[in-house]
Amino acid sequence: MRDRIEELQKQVQEMQVQNAEELEAMRIRYLSKKGEITALFSEFRNVAADQKRELGQQLNQLKQTAEAKLNELKEQYEAAREQADKQDLTRTPDPIALGTRHPLSLVKEEIIDIFSRIGFTVEEGPEVEDDRHVFGMLNFAPEHPARDMQDTFFVEKEEGVQKPDDILLRTHTSSVQTRVMTRQQPPIRVLCPGRVYRNEAISARAHCFFHQVEGLYIDKNVSFADLRQALLYFAKEMFGPDTKIRLRPSYFPFTEPSAEMDISCNICGGKGCGFCKQTGWVEILGCGMVDPNVLESCGIDSKEYSGYAFGMGVERITNLKYRVKDLRLFSENDVRFLQQFEAC
Ligand code: DAH
Repeated sequence: MRDRIEELQKQVQEMQVQNAEELEAMRIRYLSKKGEITALFSEFRNVAADQKRELGQQLNQLKQTAEAKLNELKEQYEAAREQADKQDLTRTPDPIALGTRHPLSLVKEEIIDIFSRIGFTVEEGPEVEDDRHVFGMLNFAPEHPARDMQDTFFVEKEEGVQKPDDILLRTHTSSVQTRVMTRQQPPIRVLCPGRVYRNEAISARAHCFFHQVEGLYIDKNVSFADLRQALLYFAKEMFGPDTKIRLRPSYFPFTEPSAEMDISCNICGGKGCGFCKQTGWVEILGCGMVDPNVLESCGIDSKEYSGYAFGMGVERITNLKYRVKDLRLFSENDVRFLQQFEAC
């Protein structure tokens, strides 16, 4: 009997089960009324009296081991089942990593979306431009400081390569206005997004390249009131229905009259804060009525047509919308920054 107890002790300790049925089968095999351990208890009656004490202890020990082992297996099995129940079997096996959109693209798309709802379509022009389209046809005087090397990147002439004079990187998207107006007669209603370049030292507040969106509307009887209304609509759509606008007189060679537009500071709601330097207003764009000289230089009759134009910096709007203070973040491609736009 001793051998049998030892053998069962070993078997019981090595017991493994995969599911509830196997577990129950083990219980029946060892501990049920007809089980092997129960059978040993029946046999125990016939054991010689001098061995009863020792074998009795071993037998009890075997029973306890079997019960403990079955309990342990039961717990293990239940924990595994609970875990399995928590799994969502409808999930795709490989999680799809969502890409993020660049904040400047998000804002550019939003600007386009807002203006497309009032009939604007998108036009693009070259980044490598000539002096005529960037300055000359836009009424810049020949000695205007914007034409200076300090502000503009000129493309150097290569020896032996025939190139027109004064090739440069466009300093503003207003150059696309002149391209559109020379190839199309009014009505014109376009939005021109794009990258522009200026010869500036890179810092948190300035960069040698940035992005603008230009707007141009030319038709019969276009007035300053139309311009104001379009810009008020844009400001409310972009920054919320409570946003107010203010137009301050300004000067641009290609518009007359010209203005700069402020919106009520969307950070403090116009009460005054550090961001708006306590004024309650922040500047977001330049605008005005297209100068008749510009229309004429592009072949549009300024007696018949008039129009408005505006230009805004995409970084500036993004800064206001997402509170990104340092311009350099936009071009450093740091994923820790870019990933924050995942849900946008
Ligand atoms: N081109 C100007 C700039 O880069 C912005 C601008 C001002 C564009 C007035 C316009 C405008 O179309 O009418 O600062």
